[in-house]
Amino acid sequence: MTMPGDTTTVPRPAPPGAGSVSLRDVAVRFRGKQRDVTALSGIDLDVRDGEFTAIVGPSGCGKSTLLKLVAGLLGPSSGEVLLGGERVRGPRHDIGYVFQRAALLEWRSARRNILLQAEMRRMPAQDARRRVDELIEMTGLTGFEDALPHELSGGMQQRVALCRALLHRPPVLLMDEPFGALDALTREQMNTELNRIWRETGTTVLLVTHSISEACYLADRVVVMSPRPGTITETIEVGLPAERDYTATMGRPEFRDATTRIRELLGAVTAPLE
Ligand SMILES: Nc1ncnc2c1ncn2[C@@H]1O[C@H](COP(=O)(O)OP(=O)(O)OP(=O)(O)O)[C@@H](O)[C@H]1O
Ligand SMILES: [Mg+2]
Repeated sequence: MTMPGDTTTVPRPAPPGAGSVSLRDVAVRFRGKQRDVTALSGIDLDVRDGEFTAIVGPSGCGKSTLLKLVAGLLGPSSGEVLLGGERVRGPRHDIGYVFQRAALLEWRSARRNILLQAEMRRMPAQDARRRVDELIEMTGLTGFEDALPHELSGGMQQRVALCRALLHRPPVLLMDEPFGALDALTREQMNTELNRIWRETGTTVLLVTHSISEACYLADRVVVMSPRPGTITETIEVGLPAERDYTATMGRPEFRDATTRIRELLGAVTAPLE
């Protein structure tokens, strides 16, 4: 994510601790014409540098609002938000953000969509090209560098969006239902890739998802939220090793325990959601 006037030139690996995220007694209230909405209330959350945290909860409980607070796109009505130990006071240029839809420019190739991030940051062209090559290889897009978005599958488009978000080596990657529009098999594949990319980059990840199994497969911890006003009902430690084989993970007791507990908390005990 970049704002006009950003003069960052050379991306460097983030210093230790840069990826820690803290929310302290955070509330967000929106003023409406008809009524005010309290989206979040009493949110306390500490995410360690490099940790993978998933956020699940009913629609409208404030998950996207929470990510926007961390990105500095929105200020809390009360409480404080810290990134790398520093209070977030405005839009953060150093983070990565991936949305549900890839939001690619239709007239630019995959490579040039990724390079957009570099152009906005005025990164030296050679560094940027090297980094794009690295990311294209890491995400399995080799051979599709020159394809236009409409020539790519939904999964490939999300990979391009992921590359763009990772180009500047962000200490924190925010993902808001990034795989919601994909078919089940592509989603599994993207989950496996995201697990590997997270291990390789060491970036802190905050992932909002409606899929309980996706949350438990990917995350160290899963934050379960209540209906609006969103509060944290419980935080579940998944307790699986960082490197996860998809099929083997599904059969592990830690995975079953975590998914069962989350279903109970969300009141979905009768039918598995996914
Ligand atoms: N800019 C805004 N102005 C007014 N109300 C807002 C604004 N943004 C969000 N809200 C309200 O805040 C609440 C939380 O919204 P948010 O988008 O964070 O929910 P969510 O958990 O991401 O939902 P979903 O799972 O459907 O994406 C909702 O009631 C929404 O209507
Ligand atoms: Mg949302």
